[in-house]
Parts: sequence; structure tokens; C-alpha cells
Amino acid sequence: MGKNIQNIIFNAAKRHELTKEEIIFLLSCEDFHKDSLFAAADRVREKYLGDAVHLRGLIEFSNYCKCSCRYCGLRCGNKKLKRYRMTIEEIYQTALRAHALGYRTVVLQAGEDQYYDADKIAALVCRLKKLGLAVTLSCGIRSYEEYRLWREAGADRYLLKHETADPKLYKALHPDSSLEERLDCLLQLRRLGYQVGSGCIVGLPGQNLETLASDLLLLKELDVEMAGIGPFIPHPETPLASVPKGSVELTLKMIAVLRLLLPLAHLPATTALATVDHDSRAQALCCGANVVMPNVTPQKYKQLYEIYPEKAGTNVASTQNRRQIIELITALGRKVATDQGHSPKERFQAVS
Ligand code: 5AD
Repeated sequence: MGKNIQNIIFNAAKRHELTKEEIIFLLSCEDFHKDSLFAAADRVREKYLGDAVHLRGLIEFSNYCKCSCRYCGLRCGNKKLKRYRMTIEEIYQTALRAHALGYRTVVLQAGEDQYYDADKIAALVCRLKKLGLAVTLSCGIRSYEEYRLWREAGADRYLLKHETADPKLYKALHPDSSLEERLDCLLQLRRLGYQVGSGCIVGLPGQNLETLASDLLLLKELDVEMAGIGPFIPHPETPLASVPKGSVELTLKMIAVLRLLLPLAHLPATTALATVDHDSRAQALCCGANVVMPNVTPQKYKQLYEIYPEKAGTNVASTQNRRQIIELITALGRKVATDQGHSPKERFQAVS
């Protein structure tokens, strides 16, 4: 590499462009260079998004899933997991409590569960919008018609991680879908005017720095409004039980490089990071992240949404979890956003 690493960081912080080779170079940097990368990402975050950290209340409303993703504890083949579905009224009451706690966005996430048909979700979204909440849906692959109905009902955002940008690896890990199909969904969501979130897992077997660079370039190409990046955590009831967990340091570098590439994106300090290493949530907030998604799912269901074991925040009440996260944000000299935290990009008309 002819160019020096400091130059690459300096230029990326100014122009928000990187080649695949440069990304691979940054992902492998160490010590002093890593500190420079993190500091540059932190400055870009501050310049474009300020000090506010957005809190999104996560409601995990069903752990039924028809899919068999090889890394996920919710895969339908996991017969040891006790399954639950929240009723629409339970979901609504949970959102009401989240609103009372101060949340201005709720994220409705579930396994791919067809029990919740398009009309059920649409009616719920309508009710939630009347509370003055921004609504993010994360219900997996659905039809264009369903996405359209939910958008018309007022849903603001949709999260659908691409998981890995390597089509072969994607196929090996996801027997139920192809990368192409997932990318199609992301384009449909974009066309419907959603703020779109995607993201990937770091530490999947068969992944390398080149694959990870492709993940970041894909997020850049999609120009996503949100991107979640978390380390892989092995779940004992999956085929990947014996694969080692993903590296926290590499995950933090991925977040930092993505911040350089996408200065306006909302990037969460993910729960998966906090699960592997308690301190990494703070570190993520200091190298590009500006969002935390505390779990507000009723306590009796929380531990059953076991995508991976010992998920951070599972054993604390939602009120306490929120308090701890606010303390962390304050200790970092940052503040908690009080608005709905829409994408700052101009192409979106906030739905109020
Ligand atoms: N380790 C890390 N992340 C996982 N996810 C699912 N299973 C795991 C795991 N074992 C992530 C996927 C999914 C999100 C809800 O959780 O990225 O999109």
C-alpha cells in the first residue's frame, strides 16, 4: 500500500469514500493507527450528528420463526426453546409503557412469524403512530404489498440486516433465502420511502477481511439510514455452536470505518457487542456509534428471545436498563436525544 494509513483516514474523514483495499488495510490496523481511526470516526460523528444519542425501545414480540439461519437460536429447528407470541394488545401496552419511560421510537422485532398478518401489524402501527411514536419494523422478509400496507399505516423505518454480503456464505448460512432476495427487499423498502436499516454479523465462519469490506461497501452503496454491526455469538442449539465468538475489536473497527463512509447514518452500539464485552458499548459510542436500543420487552418474554445466549440487559427491568444506559451516555459527556431521531437526510418527510 503506497499511501500511508494516516492519509487514508484523513481523506476518508473528509470525502467519505474508501476502496476495498483501503478498508481491508484499516480493518487490519493496530495500536496507534487504530486509535487514529477511532478518533477520526468520533469526530465525523460529532460533526454531522452532534452529541445526542438516540434511544430506541426494542419490543421482541414473538420468538416463533419459520427460518433455519444456522447461527440463530430462534431457528425453527431449536425444539428446546419455549416459544411465545405477544398479543397485539400486549405489544400496544408495552409500547405505551416505553412511551411513558421517555422513548420516542419503538422497534417491533420478531422472528419470521406469519401469525401476524399484514392487517394485524398495520392496525397496530396506526395505533402506535397516534401516541406520537416513530415506528421501526423488523419483521424479516415479507411481500412488497405487506411493506406497502405498513408504510401507508405510518411505519417510518424498517430494519433488515443483510447479515453477510458474500452471496455464497449467505446461502450456506440461510437455507430459506438468497442474498439477492434480501437485497431486493431492501430496495423495495427504499422505494416505499422507509428509512432503511441493514447490517452484518462479524465473525461468521468463512468470513475474512475482504468479505467484511464488501459488507461496508454494500451499506455505502445502499446508502442506508441505519446499520447495525455486531459480533457473532455461538448458540449451543445451533449448527454453529462450536464456532468461536466474533472479535469485539474488529466489530469496533467495522463501526468506525462505516462512520467514515456514512457520516449521516444512525449506527447502534449493538446489544451483541455489550453481550460479549460490557465495556464495548461505551467504546462503540466513542468510535462512531450514536444509537442504543434498550430492550423494553416484558420481563417474562425477554429471556425467551434467545437469538444468542446471555443477551445483555435480559435480567434487568426495562426501567433499570434505561437508567443504566442513560448514566453511561451522560458519563461519556453525551446527551440523550429527546426527539424521534429520524434520519437527518433530507429525502424523508417525517410522519407525525
Ligand atoms: N450472534 C450474533 N448475532 C446474531 N443474530 C442472530 N443470531 C445471532 C448470533 N448467534 C443477529 C442477526 C439478526 C439480529 C436480530 O440478530 O444479525 O439480524
